[in-house]
Amino acid sequence: MKFNRELEIAKRAANEAADIIQAYRTNQSFDIELKGKNDLVTDADLASEKKIIEVIKSEFPEDQFLAEESNTYTELPEGRIWIIDPIDGTTNFAHGFAPFCVSIALWVDGAAKVAVVFEVAHDELFSAVEGEGAWLNDSLISVSSTSDPSKSLIATGFPYSQFDLVDPYLALLKNLMQKTHGIRRAGASSYDLCCVAAGRVEGFYEYGLSPWDVGAGSLIIKEAGGIVTDWKGGDNWLFGKRIIAGNGALVDFLTTEIQNVFLDGHLTVKG
Ligand code: IPD
Ligand code: CA
Ligand code: CA
Repeated sequence: MKFNRELEIAKRAANEAADIIQAYRTNQSFDIELKGKNDLVTDADLASEKKIIEVIKSEFPEDQFLAEESNTYTELPEGRIWIIDPIDGTTNFAHGFAPFCVSIALWVDGAAKVAVVFEVAHDELFSAVEGEGAWLNDSLISVSSTSDPSKSLIATGFPYSQFDLVDPYLALLKNLMQKTHGIRRAGASSYDLCCVAAGRVEGFYEYGLSPWDVGAGSLIIKEAGGIVTDWKGGDNWLFGKRIIAGNGALVDFLTTEIQNVFLDGHLTVKG
């Protein structure tokens, strides 16, 4: 399989990072700092990121890195780049609330090739290689075939730092609550995306996410037969900060519902 070595190394890096995170969790001896309002970073995040980069660099010394705690990229460069979230769900981790994940993806010339999301608390390893399918541990996974929104579960992330759009966000949430089986806010977007891939939820949407939040989970969804778009139905979701994912029917449904509140999928509220 192409990218077999990269998959193996990504899994090794995720496992070593998970061991570090578990050790901090067991000892409960981490410092918490704020990068912004409600935007937490712990020394477990920093240690996890250092370990992931170290493991990958030792195998692929020429590769580039876009990692949350040390990132300088505003767009993807040409060539090979690893997109890393050392702990996705830091607020969960800091409170001892699952899930929290390590998220690692290899992108080459703007396309995702390899993805690993390791949910540390439950020891669930999601992975994918372009063109080869998606797995949870050793089992192939696929998105849900439920196309009826009224029989669907939807995942999302609540605004937690910037509250200027909280009212339209709540209006959208109110509509979706009444039209679906319900809404879930797990607190780790990489895990939300993997839940779409594994058919645990039918759809996901959020705004304000960064490349490290979605860089791996997006490939896992695509390889599980799902779709990832921005809020306008386009491809600008890696840096574009607005994402919808799900099976085809639920992506259509969520796009319509979002555009009923946010004008043409922009963060402009319909008047
Ligand atoms: C956060 C989580 C959360 C999402 C936030 C992200 P972090 O990542 O993915 O679910 O709602 O927007 O920033 O900060 O824990 O890596
Ligand atoms: Ca994150
Ligand atoms: Ca993080």
